Amino acid sequence: MQAYSTMFALQATMTGDIRVGVDVSLTPMEAFDGFVDELAIALEKCGMKFEARAGGSISEGDVLVGSVEEWRAGERISMLWRPKNWEGGQQNKLLVTFSASNGGTTVTVDNQEWSRILGDDGQELLGWFASEVGAQLLSVSAPIRFGDWITDRSARRPSGARSRGIYGNPTYHWPNFFVILDQLSLRPDDFLLEIGCGGGAFLHEALKSGCRGAALDHSVDMIRVATEANRDAITSHRLTVARAEADKVLPFPDDTFTCTVMTSVLAFLSDPSTTFREMFRVLRNGGRIVIFTSTKELEGTPAAPEPIASRLHFYEDEELEKFARQAGFSAVRVEHPSLFEYAKKAGVPASDLQLFSGTSGSQLLLARKDQGK
Ligand SMILES: C[S@@+](CC[C@H](N)C(=O)[O-])C[C@H]1O[C@@H](n2cnc3c(N)ncnc32)[C@H](O)[C@@H]1O
Repeated sequence: MQAYSTMFALQATMTGDIRVGVDVSLTPMEAFDGFVDELAIALEKCGMKFEARAGGSISEGDVLVGSVEEWRAGERISMLWRPKNWEGGQQNKLLVTFSASNGGTTVTVDNQEWSRILGDDGQELLGWFASEVGAQLLSVSAPIRFGDWITDRSARRPSGARSRGIYGNPTYHWPNFFVILDQLSLRPDDFLLEIGCGGGAFLHEALKSGCRGAALDHSVDMIRVATEANRDAITSHRLTVARAEADKVLPFPDDTFTCTVMTSVLAFLSDPSTTFREMFRVLRNGGRIVIFTSTKELEGTPAAPEPIASRLHFYEDEELEKFARQAGFSAVRVEHPSLFEYAKKAGVPASDLQLFSGTSGSQLLLARKDQGK
């Protein structure tokens, strides 16, 4: 079969190879580093472990599937592949190449001689290719999976270089951070918990008060950025950052924190009642929660665009208050703070300041754990 020159190509060749490739506007070295990084994370989600280095391997559970035979950074990775652990001797080659083309790089993954491994170069190869490769490509490029991927990638579980950059210093979230910090008036004797800390920019600012902190997020990339941004506080034992789910049992003992913050996170939780119960459990008596989220009014605007908007949960004020009261909180109230002055302070470009005018889009839930003496 002829070589391809499209932006994305998938093919089964005459030699029975399965080849998939994409043209990207990056240098071969950038493409190599990015691909290896992303592949390791994606394989982990499939239950596979990629030791991404010369002499490394890919395993599925405790079965060794691939052994790196050649590792040429920016050029190629060649692996011996063992897809049939029930037939020990059957092996083929898996080749990943990075070739400069048209000012960018063509990245190709070539699963060689797959028809030999399959034992058929006709109907079985066609069936395997259609169901295991073609259908996957169509399904991941259809609205549900594609919309989920965009939502996860950019906000619900941010990953990739672009998200790492944005959440390291999220200009458009700083107004929310300032509102929360004004509410909290943190002091050195506070112990703050942030749930869904993203890149840790809020934490970094909050810790300037002298308080101690802990934070969690379920995104590997966000934990990486938050850890890097707060390395000094972590090293001096003023902060811990953990990878954990916000809507499961939180990895902290009862009665630990003086305040808990969640900003731009609540809308992603499918079961906030568990999170509210957990926040109540880990707060000390007298501890406060400050939760910033958006109202339905922002659905479909630049603050909550599609396809993210239709995957968010928006609540009426009364519904938010109910979550807090049912978990045991007192002094529960919702405010709709103006973000405009905070947006100016955050350095939001003048052309975007109008996005922060009005107060009906912002929702700030405040409550306290008060169990008496
Ligand atoms: C839109 S980002 C906001 C990040 C940060 N709070 C900020 O305002 O910049 C949402 C964050 O919540 C995290 N998150 C969403 N659902 C979560 C869950 N169930 N458990 C833990 N983290 C979650 C995401 O990984 C992401 O970092």
